Amino acid sequence: TRCGSLSIVVLGASGDLAKKKTFPALFNLYRQGFLPPSEVHIFGYARSKITDDELKERIRGVLIQAKDTMPEHSESVSKFLQLIKYVSGSYDTEEGFHLLDNEISKHECGSSRRLFYLALPPSVYPSVCKMIKRCCTSKSDSGGWSRIVVEKPFGKDTESAEQLSAQIGELFDESQIYRIDHYLGKELVQNLLVLRFANRFFMPLWNRDNIDNVQIVFREDFGTEGRGGYFDEYGIIRDIIQNHLLQVLCLIAMEKPISLKPENIRDEKVKVLQSVLPIKDEEVVLGQYDGYTSDPTVPDNSNTPTFATVILRIHNERWEGVPFVLKAGKALNSRKAEIRVQFKDVPGDIFKCKKQGRNEFVIRLQPSEAMYMKLTVKQPGLEMDTVQSELDLSYKHRYQGVTIPEAYERLILDTIRGDQQHFVRRDELKAAWEIFSPLLHIIDDGQLKPIPYKPGSRGPAQADELLTKATDDNCKRPSHHDVEKQ
Ligand code: BG6
Repeated sequence: TRCGSLSIVVLGASGDLAKKKTFPALFNLYRQGFLPPSEVHIFGYARSKITDDELKERIRGVLIQAKDTMPEHSESVSKFLQLIKYVSGSYDTEEGFHLLDNEISKHECGSSRRLFYLALPPSVYPSVCKMIKRCCTSKSDSGGWSRIVVEKPFGKDTESAEQLSAQIGELFDESQIYRIDHYLGKELVQNLLVLRFANRFFMPLWNRDNIDNVQIVFREDFGTEGRGGYFDEYGIIRDIIQNHLLQVLCLIAMEKPISLKPENIRDEKVKVLQSVLPIKDEEVVLGQYDGYTSDPTVPDNSNTPTFATVILRIHNERWEGVPFVLKAGKALNSRKAEIRVQFKDVPGDIFKCKKQGRNEFVIRLQPSEAMYMKLTVKQPGLEMDTVQSELDLSYKHRYQGVTIPEAYERLILDTIRGDQQHFVRRDELKAAWEIFSPLLHIIDDGQLKPIPYKPGSRGPAQADELLTKATDDNCKRPSHHDVEKQ
């Protein structure tokens, strides 16, 4: 009988991303039977001179402090850890990679499938990819493959991103490269395609005739804690908006793909990105929370925004004139990510004086996944009063007992299966950078300054003013009227 091996190599195994995201996701996949021990081996690679056992103990620490302290849990953790081998070496010399290749080969039989997960800073991507290509790629010709998984930041603007893409592109084919944007692994982000294209409800309404504006909002109620050094180089636009929020915009705004094939979907995403007009300076508000620069790794005079509201406008038949408001901030009053599709007011309205607010469709990505539609109904009772209510699909209630997989878990499974639908293609990445690079250059040059805001607030008041101005229709209601079911 034929057998085959899957080798998962985590490069940067002793780092933070690997510890917090990669290994826990691998463990969850293992626990659910997606990584059968008869086929799968996991290799950690990093510069640290630690032993197998030291790495395993670190990972155990993360996996065990998680919610479950049941004996079965620690037993499956131990079994999972048995799959892991550690190899230490540098990121730019062949020696370590030869050792790694030997170690992988030792455990392989039959067709060899090799997944390289780069949990590393992008500065070493080119050299690591070169070494992998030279020393470690799969040698089997039937049923074997080698794939590379990378995560942002992919450069700092169009030029640097293209340079990085070219360097990796020389070594690996686009079909071997998986660029993770973990927002694409979130349950309700994956649901967007289904919502939009499998429901008659939305088809006739999803356009400029009916939609007044779309808001895509990310808030965190903590600062850059411990990541100030990284963050200050990038800022909130590169950290959240250019990737996570823009990916959501694509799925909200793109046309229907001709099929669910990954290339068909990604073609449509690229088209909508290419239809975004240049950002106007007056449609941007930047903020920086008080105390951000007291982090010792952040320069005192840092101009880096920790908050931004940016309005994007899509120049096509469906969306002309509809503002897409992208807003993200650290150290705000709450932790939440949601999409709000606000509809226009009813023409020739006869309930004017009692009006409660416009129709709105809200998709909450986190916390507590939910979708709800705000609509006006008659207030129950003898009077003909109107009131705003919701059609509410809260996942916790509707799907009781269903565990929603972690984004990384789902995405890693996709890389094993070879499905690139939820990964960012090279031309898509370029189009995304083209939207933001001019603005980012102005910010980097210090020509646009962030406005200070208090940690724990809504961010600068100017952002709310911009939102009101951009979305102002006949009837404006503050969004804090929302009933937000948890
Ligand atoms: C990361 C950013 O990509 O996403 C972080 O670098 C941010 O700054 C994180 O905190 C948010 O992810 P999530 O899944 O918690 O919303």
